[in-house]
Amino acid sequence: MTRSKPVPLIPERRLRARVRRLGRTIRRDYRGRDLVLVGVLKGSFIFMADLARAIDLPLTCDFLRVSSYGSGTESLGSVRFEFDVTQPIKGKDVLLVEDIIDTGLTARSVLRSLKAKKPRSARLCALLHKPERTRVPLTIDYLGFKIPNRFVVGYGLDHDGRHRNLPYIGVLA
Ligand code: IMP
Ligand code: MG
Repeated sequence: MTRSKPVPLIPERRLRARVRRLGRTIRRDYRGRDLVLVGVLKGSFIFMADLARAIDLPLTCDFLRVSSYGSGTESLGSVRFEFDVTQPIKGKDVLLVEDIIDTGLTARSVLRSLKAKKPRSARLCALLHKPERTRVPLTIDYLGFKIPNRFVVGYGLDHDGRHRNLPYIGVLA
C-alpha cells in the first residue's frame, strides 16, 4: 500500500521553539499557584508531554476524553464525556490543554464542565487555532499557532487514527 507523507506546515523545530516559549510564559503566570494541566485525549498527548516538560514549576497532570456526536471531520456541538478528570480540581488553577481549536465547541463545553467543579481559575491552552472556522466566542489564553482552514495531522493530531506520531504538523497530500 502506498501512502504519501503529509506535507509539512509547521516543522519540528518551530514546534519545539514555540512550546518552549509557551512553557516559559505559563511558568511566569502560574508561579506560586497550584497548577493542574488537563489534557484532552487523544489529540493533546504529545503537545501535553512536551508542554509539561517546558513548564519549570511543580504541577500535576490529568486527562479527560470527550467524543463529539457525529462523525467525520466536523464536531456537531455537543460533546459526551468518555471519562473525566480523576483528581479534585476545586480551588486549583486548571489549564486545559487542547491540540486544536476548530469550531471551538469542544473547548467551550469542556471548559464549562471544568468550571462547574469550582477551580480557582480555568484557562485554555491550544497548540493550533483555525480562526476562520471558530463559531463561538472563546478566549485562547495560550496559543501556539494560528493556521489556515486546512485539515492537519501530526504531533498528536490524527486522521482516522493515523499520523499522530508524525513529529511535525502536516497537511494531507
Ligand atoms: P472543535 O470542537 O470543532 O473545536 O473541534 C475540536 C476537535 O476536532 C479537535 O480536538 C480535534 O480532535 C478535531 N479537529 C479539528 N480540526 C482538526 C484537524 O485539522 N486535524 C485533526 N483534528 C482536528
Ligand atoms: Mg481533540
